[in-house]
Amino acid sequence: MLGTWFAVAAATAAAATATNQTAIIQISDRHIVNSLPAGFASFTLDFHPSSQGSVWGANASILEIDLASPGLLGVVTALAPAVLRLGGSEAGENVTYVGFPGFDAPCPSGYYYCLTRPRWAAILAFAARTGVRLMLDLNLIGPGTADDWPAALSQIDALFSYTAQQPPRLRPFAFELGRMTRQGGVAPAAAARVAAVGALLASRWPDEGQRPLLVGPSVHIQPDWIVDFVLALPAPLPLDVFTYHMYEGYGKAPRIASQTAAAWASGGPTGACTTFESSLWYFDHLAHAASTPGGGHLAVARQTLAGGNYSLVDSNRGYIAHSDYFVARLRRRVRADVSVSSQLEPHHALRSFAACDPSGRLVVGVANAGGEAIATALQLGQHGAPLAGGAEAWVRLNGQPLSSVGGEVPELPPVTLPAPAGAFSAPPFSVAFLRYAAVLPEACGRDGGGTLAAA
Ligand SMILES: *[C@@H]1O[C@H](CO)[C@@H](O)[C@H](O)[C@H]1NC(C)=O
Ligand SMILES: *[C@@H]1O[C@H](CO)[C@@H](O)[C@H](O)[C@H]1NC(C)=O
Ligand SMILES: *[C@@H]1O[C@H](CO)[C@@H](O)[C@H](O)[C@H]1NC(C)=O
Ligand SMILES: *[C@@H]1O[C@H](CO)[C@@H](O)[C@H](O)[C@H]1NC(C)=O
Repeated sequence: MLGTWFAVAAATAAAATATNQTAIIQISDRHIVNSLPAGFASFTLDFHPSSQGSVWGANASILEIDLASPGLLGVVTALAPAVLRLGGSEAGENVTYVGFPGFDAPCPSGYYYCLTRPRWAAILAFAARTGVRLMLDLNLIGPGTADDWPAALSQIDALFSYTAQQPPRLRPFAFELGRMTRQGGVAPAAAARVAAVGALLASRWPDEGQRPLLVGPSVHIQPDWIVDFVLALPAPLPLDVFTYHMYEGYGKAPRIASQTAAAWASGGPTGACTTFESSLWYFDHLAHAASTPGGGHLAVARQTLAGGNYSLVDSNRGYIAHSDYFVARLRRRVRADVSVSSQLEPHHALRSFAACDPSGRLVVGVANAGGEAIATALQLGQHGAPLAGGAEAWVRLNGQPLSSVGGEVPELPPVTLPAPAGAFSAPPFSVAFLRYAAVLPEACGRDGGGTLAAA
């Protein structure tokens, strides 16, 4: 448990004092925050056709990209065992599986979004060759332009039937069921579709140890929908991993998490996601996702590997790697199998993560978003007691031991600090609630409630 402090200061907030001291990276190296599988920095390929122009280009779609290209093989192999997610809007509601046993409707004339049996076989072989873990987002709406769930389910079964007959080394890692905006109806209907696909998966791969995972529902974080969805799922749960989409600026901050497609919307603002500036965000995003306590994210599937203005590499210019590609690559080399907590002070321009490499050695990532060099130093040790398992789970309030047993909740008397304190000195390993009695932000007095009272 961390110590807790509570204080009242009658003052205005002071400007942060400029400092150029050495930034101390404090690492609590005696407990694990989260364990991660290798291949955490993962990526997506979409189905957007080359006819969609410069944003997607000739070598972006999983239906067209040259799977034998040395450029593609090189950049993908170097991120293995990342998850190669095949997704995008059309995957979830248009892609038609053609030529599979039991559902061999032809590709509609002139229709682009057809995944043929030979192409699927080539994709399975590509994944095996590069060592990535393949994950296909399934169509949960209907083939082509149809809104026809029974047809979608039949073609999924045909795809499963073919895939299950392939040698084990070609087995996909997972199938995904879900779309960021259109979930196959209201939450209970979507849950029923997930259950139906889960049953097909179990029938085609009866041995649970050999069965590809089923993941979903891949929504933006919409808490009400997600709660309804989870409550409507049958037991035992057909989903192995919870997935969600996170486009910066959409939806809410995730509270439940396991797998992410992270990107900027609409193909990325021109020039924003392919520069070094993006890497500061990407570094930070991966670090946050990796350190979610309590067994958090398993992977972050970057939108995209190639195609769009948010790609890791430019497949239309000789597979040039953008800056973010190297973040993913370095992260892989780190193999952040286990993270440990880290804290930084006093530079707000710094972000860091700490992890163990597979041989148990410390790896610290440090990103500096500021324009000047910042000296850093490590401080290992027990910064705060272990998160769990300690018999001495105690806290202090303003120096006095604090506890509550059997519903007897003590008063939490505040301490008043002299005005104009402003610059509150946060003690080590503390949580403080500072109440500024003289500060009444305009927004707090709006909407009828929440007017601040004087202390
Ligand atoms: C910051 O560092 C420079 C160079 O080391 C030094 O001259 C300066 O006094 C420092 N400023 C502060 C506020 O510590
Ligand atoms: C995808 O399917 C939806 C109906 O589910 C349809 O409205 C849309 O036009 C289709 N898009 C393409 C590109 O076929
Ligand atoms: C993507 O970048 C290209 C230039 O590389 C630009 O023409 C296009 O408008 C960009 N797309 C978006 C959605 O910003
Ligand atoms: C697409 O990839 C192929 C084969 O890898 C390559 O020959 C071609 O030049 C690429 N197209 C563009 C526009 O870079």
